[in-house]
Parts: sequence; structure tokens; C-alpha cells
Amino acid sequence: MKLSSFFLFSVLSLAAPALSAPRHKDNKPQPPKTTFLFSANITLSPFTLIGNTGFGERVVVGVSDGAFKGPKLAGKITGGLVTSLEHGDVHRADATYLLQTNDGTNIMVIEHAVIPYIEVLFEVAADSKYAWLNSVTAWATGDESDEGELSLNFWELAPRE
Ligand SMILES: *[C@@H]1O[C@H](CO)[C@@H](O)[C@H](O)[C@H]1NC(C)=O
Repeated sequence: MKLSSFFLFSVLSLAAPALSAPRHKDNKPQPPKTTFLFSANITLSPFTLIGNTGFGERVVVGVSDGAFKGPKLAGKITGGLVTSLEHGDVHRADATYLLQTNDGTNIMVIEHAVIPYIEVLFEVAADSKYAWLNSVTAWATGDESDEGELSLNFWELAPRE
């Protein structure tokens, strides 16, 4: 066994228990449980058109500011970047931007979207009170409320007990 395949094998066998989805009594796969995290209004800067790259129409947009509010965290949005690629009927976007909670914690948000649906991960200091966000998988959707303003709702996805 080559070192690389040995490594992959070890990682997969270690991860296997965590990857096996919890099963309901009747053994049918269960959809995840959703828990509301927060709503956000995100203000975008004027966009820059890169043009058609051959893979689609590429557009880059800055996140200028905004606000977010939910039962466990609230604060402002302090900046970030959205890159979008439109090809035929498919519109994809990736974004990285920053939340700053009212008590001063910076949280990085990483998004991958097939518009209008967005998968979301967070990165935050492990010694902060928001460290639980590091292991959250979230999902968001919403729409453009005004010109250049996005209005999104975020939900945590978790296995059913
Ligand atoms: C987002 O904007 C709507 C409409 O103006 C407002 O009702 C809502 O409170 C705002 N949400 C946040 C998190 O600021």
C-alpha cells in the first residue's frame, strides 16, 4: 500500500463512525433537523464585471456592511467578497465575509451557493463563546430585498436524535 492510500484509508476508517448517519427506528434515512440561527441584511458594493471566461459570466462584488440578528448572536457585518458565476440557467456564487458580534467577536462566514440556496460554514476563535459555530453546518436562503441589498435567513442543520 502506498503511503498516500494508507493515509486515506486510515482517515476514512477513523471518520467512519462519525459519517454513519443516525438511523431512525424504522431504518429510513431521516432529513436533518433545522434550527434558526439568524437573519442578515447584507449591503453589497457596486459589482465588477470580469466577463465571460468560457465557464460563465464572472462577477465580483464586495460586501460593504450590514447587520445580523438571531437568538444566540447578533451584530454587524464588516466586509467581505462575493464571486459569482452565471452560465445558462445555473448561477453559482462563493462568498467569504465577516460578522462582528455585539460583544466584539469576529466570525468568518464561508458560503458556497447555487442561487438561491447557500451552504454555510463558520470560523471563529476556539476560546470564544461562539466556538460552537466551528462545528455547525448551516444552510441559508433569501433574496435581494433592494438593489444591492441581500436579505438572508440562516439555519443550522443537525442530525435528528
Ligand atoms: C433587515 O431589514 C428589514 C427590513 O428593513 C428589517 O425589518 C430587519 O429588522 C433587518 N434585520 C436586521 C438583522 O437588521
